Amino acid sequence: MVAPLLQAEAVTYHYPDGRAGIVEASVSVAEGESLVILGANASGKTTLLQLLAGLIFPARGTVRAFDIVLSEQSLQDGDFARTFRQRVGFLFQDTDAMLFSATVYDDIAFGPLQLDLTPDEVRRRVEETLSLLGLSAIAQQPPHQLSGGEKKKVALAALLAVSPGALLLDEPTSGLDPRSQRWFVELAGELRAMGKTLVTATHDLHVADEIADRVIVLGEDHRIAAEGPPERLLRDLDLLLSVNLVHQHAHIHDGRVHVHPHSHLHAHDHQ
Ligand SMILES: Nc1ncnc2c1ncn2[C@@H]1O[C@H](COP(=O)(O)OP(=O)(O)OP(=O)(O)O)[C@@H](O)[C@H]1O
Ligand SMILES: [Mg+2]
Repeated sequence: MVAPLLQAEAVTYHYPDGRAGIVEASVSVAEGESLVILGANASGKTTLLQLLAGLIFPARGTVRAFDIVLSEQSLQDGDFARTFRQRVGFLFQDTDAMLFSATVYDDIAFGPLQLDLTPDEVRRRVEETLSLLGLSAIAQQPPHQLSGGEKKKVALAALLAVSPGALLLDEPTSGLDPRSQRWFVELAGELRAMGKTLVTATHDLHVADEIADRVIVLGEDHRIAAEGPPERLLRDLDLLLSVNLVHQHAHIHDGRVHVHPHSHLHAHDHQ
């Protein structure tokens, strides 16, 4: 049997102030699958992704990548650390944390420059990525002058330029307008067609529905409340209510939970 690409076994993480981030969560990610981690605010999505990314380490339980336990020690080993960081990319929820260069171009070139590439190859990769994500026109802009949505695309570009096989994406669609959200869903489809492994944290049920092969739902107790195919979990109103991913006005249309915001400002004829 092929070992999962990433595997967390009964991981628990508390922040230094004692607050629970995630409790006894087991997750395994197979190569090439698209897993979505759903949960309300503060349920532990970011914590779980950061554990899978080897950015923090569990107090109890273990995380393995490519069958090697992630620890401060294993990630200090030059070879493993380099391969791991090259093969597993992480999109921070706070995109500003990823952008620090003078221009968009330089931020995207940063990752490829750490690889063993010639200057020509680096240039080619950056230019391909800029054009793939439609960012060529803003290549010379300082990232801090961009809009939130543009920053998100640049951060994603910086990640893709390194060409990792697995992408851990923390709220990739937050702050994106409907057209950019659609753009992200299409990009995710292309990445899946290329055989990339995706692990996406979101509270957006529509995004989950569009991109997930499998869904994990976190409860507000920071534990995994459910795991399974999107077709089943995303129509389980009781489950979604219990973890506060929908409010009591949600209902099912066409076999899927319907979650647009309801208020008396919205005329609604599907009661
Ligand atoms: N640096 C920190 N110090 C202390 N507690 C933290 C820290 N980061 C997160 N927490 C706590 O850990 C829990 C899980 O947080 P986490 O950021 O993983 O949630 P999340 O599901 O990603 O939420 P969101 O949807 O708001 O991004 C929350 O109760 C949060 O307050
Ligand atoms: Mg988060």
